[in-house]
Amino acid sequence: MSLTKKDEILKRFLQAENTPISGQKLAEELGISRTAIWKHLQSLQEEGYQFEILKKKGYLLVGTPDQVDPARITSFLNTKRFGRNIHYVKQCTSTQKIAHELVAEDATDGTIVISESQTEGKGRMARNWESTEGKGIWMTVILRPSILPHQAPQFTLVAAVSVVNAMKSLYENFVPTIKWPNDILINGRKCTGILTEMIAEVDQVRALLVGIGINVNQKMEDFPEELQQIATSLSIEEKKQLDRAQLVAQTLNYFEQYSDLYLSKGFSPIKALWEEASNTIGKNVKAVTLNETIEGKAIGITEEGVLEIQLEDGSIKQVYSADIHLNE
Ligand code: BTN
Repeated sequence: MSLTKKDEILKRFLQAENTPISGQKLAEELGISRTAIWKHLQSLQEEGYQFEILKKKGYLLVGTPDQVDPARITSFLNTKRFGRNIHYVKQCTSTQKIAHELVAEDATDGTIVISESQTEGKGRMARNWESTEGKGIWMTVILRPSILPHQAPQFTLVAAVSVVNAMKSLYENFVPTIKWPNDILINGRKCTGILTEMIAEVDQVRALLVGIGINVNQKMEDFPEELQQIATSLSIEEKKQLDRAQLVAQTLNYFEQYSDLYLSKGFSPIKALWEEASNTIGKNVKAVTLNETIEGKAIGITEEGVLEIQLEDGSIKQVYSADIHLNE
């Protein structure tokens, strides 16, 4: 859905950055009454936005709640399609589930579903994904690319390089790396997972649902005990509280750019970006697939994004889907 009047008002305040806006001016620009403006401001105050009234100057936004609402995300966006339709909910079972419903209603390319919390967050290999309220980014990006079903795994790598480069552009105290295919790690601990689901006929993709889960502002004690040895959050690594809406927008900014690059130039430039950020290539790995465990050296990815592992006898195995354990 496009921005409501209330979101439009909020967007203007966010963009005005410490400059007051007069109620009269807002009413004229948005074509609604001053009473309507005042009602929207009251409703924003109920959500946690704080305004001061400055005599003869108007309203000044002095406090914003920590949430990933459409107006806050949009204020950081510079895309044409990605994130221009935002389906925002405070809580849901899984953003993937809502995305499936929106595809059935013909959601457009780049529509996102984002939630403050998920009660049944889905991970890869039918695992659960811990989605604590207000601490992370739990979103699904709906894509409608003209690609064949066998190209879908490449798109997952497009998502991974987008998230990594968004983080690199915003933060300076850590270096995120990608473990094949698309786990994002910092100092060996997972901070981000990506789950791509596909709706397709045999010869045509109808939609890709790229689910991105990023641990942003958790403290270590916010993670369940079983994750405390293997997970981390960006805030732990950057050593300060981070703006989730800004990271959502920056991820979408990169994601649109790299998706367009992939669609116009093919997988090669994405492969190069992926290899630059990868921590898997050149390492001895154990790949646990549904049917077998393969040990050897990860020597690269193919043009399809498939991992190649060289075994001790010199032969090369291609791995399409697995859990990878890095042996240092
Ligand atoms: C993984 O197992 O590494 C993938 C985790 C993907 C989690 C995200 S959070 C947003 C979206 N909705 C879900 O239910 N899962 C994905």
